[in-house]
Amino acid sequence: MATLFKDVLILDGSREKAERVHMLVSKGRIAEIIDASQNPPSADKIISGHGKLAVIPGFVNAHTHAAMVLLRGLGEEAPLMEWLQNKIWPVEDKLTPEHIYWGTLSAMLEMLSTGTTCFADMYFEMERVAEAVLGAGMRAALCRGITAGEPGKIERSLQNNLDLAEKYHGREGLITVQLGPHAPYTVPFESMKNIASAAKSHGLGIHFHFLETEGELQNLPMPPKEYLQSSGLLNAPYLTLAHAVWLDPNIELPDNVTLIHNPCSNLKLGSGVMPLVSWLDNSVPVALGTDGASSNNRLDMWEEMRTTALLHKGVNKDPVCVSALDVLRMATYEGARAYGFSQKGMLQEGWFADLVLVNLDKPHYIGVNEENLAAYLVYAGSSADVEGTMINGRWLYKNGEYPTLDCEEIMQKSREAREAITK
Ligand code: NI
Repeated sequence: MATLFKDVLILDGSREKAERVHMLVSKGRIAEIIDASQNPPSADKIISGHGKLAVIPGFVNAHTHAAMVLLRGLGEEAPLMEWLQNKIWPVEDKLTPEHIYWGTLSAMLEMLSTGTTCFADMYFEMERVAEAVLGAGMRAALCRGITAGEPGKIERSLQNNLDLAEKYHGREGLITVQLGPHAPYTVPFESMKNIASAAKSHGLGIHFHFLETEGELQNLPMPPKEYLQSSGLLNAPYLTLAHAVWLDPNIELPDNVTLIHNPCSNLKLGSGVMPLVSWLDNSVPVALGTDGASSNNRLDMWEEMRTTALLHKGVNKDPVCVSALDVLRMATYEGARAYGFSQKGMLQEGWFADLVLVNLDKPHYIGVNEENLAAYLVYAGSSADVEGTMINGRWLYKNGEYPTLDCEEIMQKSREAREAITK
C-alpha cells in the first residue's frame, strides 16, 4: 500500500531548511519526494497537509534501558552509586522475564507516542525484549547488560549476549545486536578484554557506559584513552559510549566511536555536563538518548533535543554553538548510523520510511516556515505535537492509537509487574 503525504513540510539533519513537498511512501520506503508545486503522485491513502503538517525522521533513542519504566520514581534524587546500589539493583533482582517483556512494551508505548522509531536498549532477558520489538514492528539495537557477580556470571552473560546476536541480529531488518559490557566499574578489566575480543571476532558492535561520573574517572585503573585502547574496545567494528561526561574532548577517537549524550539523565543525577561543543568541533559523532526512565524520567527525545540545545548554549555562553538542526541530526540520523542501521534517519528517496508526522496547526507554530521549522520544533515544539509515528511504512502510532499493540493489556500487565517488584 502506498501512502502519499501531500503538501507537507519535510526536514531532516541533512537539509539546511525544510522543503514543501509531496512525499510518497511505498513498500516500506520513501519512494518519491517532489516539490509541492507539482502534481502529486497517486496513492491508496492520502494525508493532506495543506502546509500544516511536518514530516521529520523518526527519533533514535540511542541509549536507554526500556523496562526500567517499571522502576520509575524509585530512589529519586540520590547520587548515581547510592541510587544504583540501594534502590535500583535490589529491585532489579526481582524482575522476571515476563516483567521485562511488559515493561519494554510499556516503554514502547511511550516512545512511539513521542515519535521514537528505534531505541538502543541495554538490559537483561533480552530475548523477551526482542520478541516485544518484533511483535510491535519497532526497531531496536539490543545488548545484554553484562555485569560481574557470582563466579561465572560474566561468562554466562557474554554467552547469553552472543546467543542473542546469533538469533536476532538483522532479524526482519528491525534489530541489530551489540555486546553490552555495562561499565568499567561493573566489569573487571580482564573480562572487558574478553568481551572486546568476542565483539571483534563476531563482528559485533559494543554499547558501553563510560565515564558518567567524576568518581568513575578517578577510579579508572588507567587513563581513559589507554583503557579504551588496551581493553580492545576500540577494535570492535563500532563502539557507542553512553554519557562520556568526563571524557576529555582533547582525546583523539577513531571513526568507529559514537558518543551518546544523555543530558536530562546527567542533569538529574548531578553527573555533570558533557563537553559536547568540543566534540562536535573535533567532528566526533554524537547521538542523543534518554537513558532509563528511572533516571530521566521521560523517554521523550523532544526533551533531549531541547535540553541539549539550551544547555550547551548556556554553559558555553554562546547562542550559536549548537543549532536546532545539529540536535535534530543527533536525535535521528546519528543514532541510526551508530547502531548499524543503514538508510534510516533521513528523509531521502529510497530510504526506509521511519518518520514522525507533526501537527503544525497549533498556536505555538504560528509564524513557522521552511526557514525556521527546525527552531520551531526544537524550541517551541514538544511531543504533544506528534500525530503519528511510522516505521517501515507502517503506522505504529496514529491519532492516539497503537495499531500493532494492545495498550490496555500492556498497561495492566505493567501495573502488576510494578506491584510485584516493589512489594
Ligand atoms: Ni544507562
